[in-house]
Amino acid sequence: MRYPWNSKSIKWYMEAEKTTSFYKRIKNMVGPCLDGVDSVLDVGCGPGSLTMELVGSYQKVEAIDISVPAVSALRERVEGLGFTNIGLRSLSFEDLPYRYEYDAVFLCYVMGLVREALMEKILRHSRRYVFLVIPSEDIKNDFNIKSLAQRLDADDSELKQPCYKEIVPVLDRLGLSYSVHIFESEFGQPFYDMEEAADFFRHYFPIFAEKEQELSQWLSESLEYVSGGYYLPNTRKSVLITIEK
Ligand SMILES: C[S@@+](CC[C@H](N)C(=O)[O-])C[C@H]1O[C@@H](n2cnc3c(N)ncnc32)[C@H](O)[C@@H]1O
Repeated sequence: MRYPWNSKSIKWYMEAEKTTSFYKRIKNMVGPCLDGVDSVLDVGCGPGSLTMELVGSYQKVEAIDISVPAVSALRERVEGLGFTNIGLRSLSFEDLPYRYEYDAVFLCYVMGLVREALMEKILRHSRRYVFLVIPSEDIKNDFNIKSLAQRLDADDSELKQPCYKEIVPVLDRLGLSYSVHIFESEFGQPFYDMEEAADFFRHYFPIFAEKEQELSQWLSESLEYVSGGYYLPNTRKSVLITIEK
């Protein structure tokens, strides 16, 4: 499935980036392993919050994403800041030629790619480390969305997502050496007004799209008023898996 990037979702992503320490946290958790790591690849970079953290730390950073608008947004940011150690490509990971090798490969919340059939390819692109950042729970509960699903008596299997419990047995079957680190980060979403918040939910959670009234009620209970707008709090529960080759 193509991640639905457009000008609105890119703007939401960039706004959320300003208030979260999630990406910095990943960089800091990984940091101690990375002595002697010069080149890194960020697979499924999106508009590049993690890439922007990595580019300040490593000699050579490459980032790829299947989405043209996401890579264009990242290109604009990078050009504005004058980095020269970064390469960007709008490309599906499956099409990345094998001749490209890096000291470390990152996949952050790119669940469609973290699966057994692609694990060998992921490993082949890395000389030393693979870092997988994936959800820790199998039902998506961003913004406490489960509470809305329960209120609407909606089928929460619609919120099902691959999580680390499915990945760990794959790594065991492949006989890989890895460590698992569970962590939580505040990763909320700022909005200008309530209508923008409803629009966000229609975009990311279409199962609630037809329940306008209930969604508005739930949003008015959940949004915090902050200077200049609103903030929807969210504790993101994730797992960092470090695979060492
Ligand atoms: C949830 S976003 C994560 C973005 C970024 N890694 C982050 O954590 O902020 C998932 C990204 O994976 C990209 N993606 C999905 N399938 C892909 C593929 N086959 N090859 C490359 N990128 C892909 C999507 O376009 C999207 O930008």
